[in-house]
Order: sequence, then C-alpha cells, then structure tokens
Amino acid sequence: MTPNMIYLDNAATSWPKPECVSEAISQAMIHCGGNPGRGGHKLALAAGELLYEVRDRTAAFFGSEDPFRVSYTQNITMAINMILRGVLHPGDHVLVSPMEHNAVMRPLNAMAINYDILDSEADGKIKTSEIENKIRGNTKLIIICHESNVNGIVQPLREIGQIAHKHNLLLLADCAQSAGHIPLHIEKDNIDFLCFTGHKGLFGPTGTGGVLFGSQVDVEQIQPLICGGTGSLSESFKQPAFLPDRFESGTQNISGLAGLNAGLQWIENQGLENISQHGSKLINDLCQGLQDHPKIQIYSGEGQVLSITIDGLDNGTAASELEDRWGIMTRIGLHCAPLAHRTLGTFPSGTIRFAVSPFTTEEDIQICIDACKTLAEESCAGK
Ligand SMILES: Cc1ncc(COP(=O)(O)O)c(C=O)c1O
Repeated sequence: MTPNMIYLDNAATSWPKPECVSEAISQAMIHCGGNPGRGGHKLALAAGELLYEVRDRTAAFFGSEDPFRVSYTQNITMAINMILRGVLHPGDHVLVSPMEHNAVMRPLNAMAINYDILDSEADGKIKTSEIENKIRGNTKLIIICHESNVNGIVQPLREIGQIAHKHNLLLLADCAQSAGHIPLHIEKDNIDFLCFTGHKGLFGPTGTGGVLFGSQVDVEQIQPLICGGTGSLSESFKQPAFLPDRFESGTQNISGLAGLNAGLQWIENQGLENISQHGSKLINDLCQGLQDHPKIQIYSGEGQVLSITIDGLDNGTAASELEDRWGIMTRIGLHCAPLAHRTLGTFPSGTIRFAVSPFTTEEDIQICIDACKTLAEESCAGK
C-alpha cells in the first residue's frame, strides 16, 4: 500500500479486506475444490460442508434460524432482480423509499411496474405516518433502501415492516450498505426479503451476495430467475420446489463464499457494535470538521457514508485533486441512485461521497477534512 493512499470508497466496495478473507479463498481452492452437491468424493463433500457453514453463518448473522432460507447470488442487484421478477406481476403496485438505487428502479422500470415514492424529510428519512395513505388495493410490496449509499440515511425498517404486515404487504430491504454496519434481524425487523451484497460491509469478495427469506414467505409462490442443475432430483425437468435449490441453479461460487464466510467471522470477532460505533464516529468527525465552512454543503445521515459539494468546484475536478494531492479515493456523481439525488436536490451533478470502514483512521479523516477545506478555499480564491 502506498503510504498516502486513503480509501474512502467503501460504499462502492470495501478495501482493504481483512487478511483472513484472501487466505480463506485460497484455502478453499486448495482443499474444497470439488462441486458441492454434485459428487460423493472428498473434495465435493468438503465444498458442500463449506457451503453449509457459510449458509449457517449468513442466516445467523441476519437473525434467521434456517440456513436453507439463504439463497446466494452474484451480488445484491441479482438478488433484488430475483425477488422483483419472481414476486411481481403485471398490474401490481409497489411503494419505494425516496433513496432507492437503480438496482431497484431499473428492474421496476423494465417490468413496467407502477410505483409510488414514499414521503420523506429533506434528508430522505421516510415519514412513516404517511405510508398508509399511499397503500392501494393492488399494492404488493414495499421496497426500502435501509442505509442510503448517498448520504447514509437509515430508514426505520422495523416500523415500516409493521405497517407492511398490517396491510398484508411484503417488505424487501436493500441492505447493500447496512449489512455489516447495523445489526439486522430478519424476523424482529419484519423483513420478508433481506437482500445483501457480499463485497461491501461484509468484507467478502466481489461476486457474492444473496437474499434471505423471512419465515413467513411462501417461497413456492416465487418464480426462480434461473432454472437448471442443482445436483438434486436430477431425474426431473422440473425445478425443485425446496430451498435452497429452488433459487440456486448452477455451480455456486465456493471460493467467493469461503471469503464471505471469513468476512462474516471477522465481523463477529471485531463485534458489529464496535464497527458501527467506529464508522459513526468517523462520519461524525468528518461532518463536524466540514460543517462550518461556508463553501461546503454537507449531505449527511446517520450511517457510514457522507456526501458533500464544494461551491464553485466541479465534482470531477475535486475528486482528481483529492486523489492526486492527498491520495484520497472517493466516488462522485450520482452513485447509481438518481432518485436519491433528486430527493436531496443534488441531481443531476451529484456529490462527492466519502464512505469509511473499520480500516479508516481518525488521521485519514483529519487529512480529508483539511484537503476539502483547502479545495474550498482555493475555489473561492479562483485558483
Ligand atoms: C443501496 C445499494 N443497492 C444496491 C447496490 C448494488 O450493489 P451490487 O453492485 O453489489 O449489486 C448498491 C451498490 O452500490 C447500493 O449501494
């Protein structure tokens, strides 16, 4: 690592990963190199055992007692597509949070599903008292981005889930950012489809993600996105109805999931509460450090992400300067979430986004504060 590399793009993907993650991937390739569920020899059995271990750990991490209610996909985008395409039918209506990512908005658009956007405060926090007014006779699903990837606002999932269930609606939670930042319990938080991605706060490699089904969801009513070989019921052309095979056709990403397993284990060892506190403190420090500068606008929620704009300075120029002069890596623009930027009033130019991780230090944040202030001063001086 170059000494002055400050990675603040953890909302895109976390970096660095704990060392145990790459170690686990490498060990899986050496010792668990068979195809799980596809053979009786020892390498296939070892792969099967590893797959069960990560399934069990993933389920427990999100408060489920049933490891088979986890279905792995290659990322959360695929998990969300799987649920939307498997659950919704023409004529259905859905409610979405005002902070949704295009992982939700594009499939809804492609499927021509009618939706309404839930009312919120200026920072995107949903006004839960207004939700019931938006429910229609054909509303089937409420979709909530739990922690925004733009300003870190965290939505009150548990309360929203209660309202959903009172009206016999299903709740899909996009936990791309919150998984690994905020404790989640699929049953207590009233979630029906808990979608997650492995490569952000869970510290797995890219190519991992999935969905956990709540205990009340009738999975047989959900059409699989992909059908094919599962290693089970091979005599039939029909897709198995049972979990996890119903939604897991084709060979699984065993080495990737071994990495996810190690990432989850690392979080358990660190303590999710400690990770959460560290991240919130750093974002709070960043916010405090920048908030008095008259040329810096801050878009902040309560998660581990914060966005800014600097008056008179184009976001692209700011990002290049931050990296070239201070080694600070950020992501600028719309962050695949144009709806969130419309809600915050930052569409179409977007923002400069900072996202921390347990590997981010107070010193990194201080350098970032000083760098942003310097850029703001220089932009005032017309440099
Ligand atoms: C809130 C949210 N949803 C969905 C996604 C898509 O994640 P992936 O690219 O891992 O599918 C992201 C990633 O940026 C995100 O922040």
